[in-house]
Formats: sequence, structure tokens, C-alpha cells
Amino acid sequence: MKNICVIGVGYVGLTTAACFSDLGNKVVAVDISEERVANLKKAIMPIYEPGMSELVERNMQAKRLFFTTSYEEGLADAEFVFICVGTPSGVDGEADLRYVRQAAETIAKTMKHPLIIINKSTVPVGTGDWVSNIVHETQPNPIDFAVVSCPEFLREGAAISDFNNPDRTVLGSTNREAADKVAQLHLPLRAPIIVTDLRTAEMIKYASNAFLATKISFINEIARVCESLGADVKEVAAGMGYDKRIGNRFLEAGIGYGGSCFPKDVQALAHMANVHGKHPQLLTAVMEINDNQRLHVIRKLEEMIGSVEGKVIGLLGLAFKQDTDDMREAPSITVADYLHEHKATVRAYDPVAAENALKLMPYLQMSEDPYELATGCDALIVVTPWNEFKQLDMERVRDVMRQAILVDARNLYEPQAMRDLGFAYRGIGRGYDGNGEPV
Ligand code: UDX
Repeated sequence: MKNICVIGVGYVGLTTAACFSDLGNKVVAVDISEERVANLKKAIMPIYEPGMSELVERNMQAKRLFFTTSYEEGLADAEFVFICVGTPSGVDGEADLRYVRQAAETIAKTMKHPLIIINKSTVPVGTGDWVSNIVHETQPNPIDFAVVSCPEFLREGAAISDFNNPDRTVLGSTNREAADKVAQLHLPLRAPIIVTDLRTAEMIKYASNAFLATKISFINEIARVCESLGADVKEVAAGMGYDKRIGNRFLEAGIGYGGSCFPKDVQALAHMANVHGKHPQLLTAVMEINDNQRLHVIRKLEEMIGSVEGKVIGLLGLAFKQDTDDMREAPSITVADYLHEHKATVRAYDPVAAENALKLMPYLQMSEDPYELATGCDALIVVTPWNEFKQLDMERVRDVMRQAILVDARNLYEPQAMRDLGFAYRGIGRGYDGNGEPV
């Protein structure tokens, strides 16, 4: 049993706190938001994450997991403190580090005994050294501490299982003893542990996310070529994926990546390259393809429906991906805003993201279920690949629509099956239909 403090209870912090307490450690999680902390004490989660509320409740009851707004309480017994605060995109794509600075300063002012400070927030390369300087400069009296970078690789919607089954744990520090202690904390997870220097650990995180984003933009570009040549990108990806050097994951063509990490991290890495006079040629293309992919979906709709003015368009799903209520950088925003600006009526259904989405797009007309959404629509666009959309009664959907037009921006359905049902159907990169038209 170790004593751990976690600063920030967003996705990363809450998962870190809940999962480390579940491993038998005592964890005190600190957040500056009184509302968040008050809610968490009542087991009301700040985010939608499958399995999270059960995990939090169980560990609170076992008196291993505590929430507070007080750094004093958080750090009282702590040997390790994880910084898990947000690092939003600032001007020019540069990561905004104000919350990391605040956390580092407050830790420095509050700590009464030696600490290992672990950076989990995704921060520009060099931030570990910067945090170390801030703590040194802010401490009223010198107390020993070490900074370790331990980047997170959690996917929203799968955060708990990703925490418990990591592909690897990356630790970076100038202090080998501290890195070894953090390695001990991660031993129960039985994953390979890479111990390296601070800057390399920080870079591993950016390079990993940029590579995954590149895979997505790559397959989206291939999808567009497939549309012109009559090949089916789903089968192309499957065929490529058997090659172990390529792998079959992250090759799903669609509407492009969104979320809190990929857009921000690719931008931040490109920014770091630019600042140092290195032209980030590939990263720039990755971002450009991703932006275009959203417009590509809109073009597909317009090809089938003509002008969207006066039409009723239904969006199946709003969250940036399934199993989350996160709307950050969600492709649905680009699509809905375009439709709204071009005077369409924009309707939507999402099982969990509706409330968050309405804050960003108050003009949206929300439906209670996919069938209510489809009723009277001129077209439906599948924006988020929620499981519950995979086996809809598509005959019923077709019958309630004003025009049976379906743009499947996530390739959830089989083109031929949809055409057989009488839909005018377009997926992403699915080749030609029987008449030589792209599907
Ligand atoms: C990602 C990384 O996977 C994780 O390691 C990192 O720490 C945080 O960022 P997350 O943003 O939760 O996690 O989502 P992820 O499942 O990786 O998907 C990112 C985006 O790419 C989503 O918009 C998703 O819909 C899209 N995507 C993913 C595709 O379009 N095609 C794919 O094949 C895979």
C-alpha cells in the first residue's frame, strides 16, 4: 500500500486515482472545483466513462479513495503526487500550461516532506524540467523532490481497462531512484516498463499520438482514392492489417479523428517543430486531411440531396467517438454548424452526449431515440459509431424518413444491404455500386 495524491479529476486524474486505489493504495484526489469534489463524494461522476462510478464508489467505501479541494489534505501522507490537470490548446496550437504551473506552485508551497512529483498531463517536451524549476523556486524552504514523467495512453470509453492492461509504462526522470519507485507502483499491471530521461518520455507520448493520428489520416486518404477507383477501403484495411508491421488497428476510415488528445497533440508537436525551425511536413498533411475529411462528408450529403437549405438532416451520434459524452473537437460540430449556417434544420440523437452538445450547438433539435430522429428527415448522417446504431431496424428507419438518404460517415452498414432496403447510401471509401457510382 502506497500513499498517493492525484491533482485534477478529469478523465486522466479520475482514472488514475480510482485505478490506483483499486490496486490497494490509499489515494487522495484533489481538484480546485468545489462542485466536482462535492459530487464525487456523492459518487456523481464529472464524466461519462463506463464502469467508473462503480469503481469510485467501491473504493470510497473501502476507505482507499478520497476527494478534497485541499492540497494540505491531499499531500499530508503522500509519497507520490500525480499532476493530471488539463493542458488545453493555446494560441498557435501551443499547449497552455497555466494549470500545470498552478499545480506545481501549490505543491511547492504545501509540501512538508519529500515527494515524487509525477507528470501525467500531456505537456510539451521540456516541461518536466520546467516543473522542477518552478517547484525549486516556489518552495519556501528546500525539501527534496524528484520529477518523473509518466505519460498516459488511456482511451476515453476504455480508460479503466487501458489503465489495467497497458501496452507499456513509460517513465522519464533524471532521478533513477525516483523512477524505480514509480516503476514499483506500476508493477501489478505487468506491462513492460521503459525508463528513460524526461524529455524522451515526453516525446514518446507526442510521437505515439501523432503516429496514430497519421494512421487515421492515411486510411482516410486511401478511402478517398478508393472512392475514385472502385475499391472497398474496409477490405483494403483488413488486407493490410494482416501484415504485422502494419497491424489492423486504427485503420478505420471515417469522418476523421476528434477528441481531447489527437487534434491538440498533433498541433502541439507541429508547433514545437516549427519553433525549432523544423518544418513538420507530414504532421501538417495529417491535420489537413483530417480537416478535409469532415467537409468530405458534407460534400457527400450535398451530392445526394443538393442544397441543404430547408432540408431536415438528422445526425446519428454527436460525441467525438462512441462510449463517451466528450464533445471536444467532435466532427459533429463542423457538420452541424455547416448545416445550420446553410439553413437546414439540424436534428440529432446521442445516447449520452446530448447535454454537452447543446451547450455548444443550442440550435440542435434533440430526439429521444434514433427512430424519432429519423421521422421526417430528408437525410441521416452516421457521425458517431455507437454500438446501438449497428442493429437498428433499418426498414423502420426508412419508412419514417421523408427521403431515404443515408450518409454513413463511420462505415457501420453494408452498402449493398442498405441499397437493397431502398436507401440512397454513401459510406466512406466503399467502392462502386452496381451502376459504377461511388458508395
Ligand atoms: C487517444 C489515444 O488513443 C490515447 O492513447 C491517448 O492517450 C489519448 O488520445 P481517445 O482520444 O480517447 O484516445 O480516442 P481514440 O479511441 O484513440 O480515438 C481518437 C479519434 O480517432 C476518435 O475521434 C475516433 O473516432 C477516431 N478514430 C480512431 C478513427 O477515425 N479511426 C480509427 O481507426 C480509430
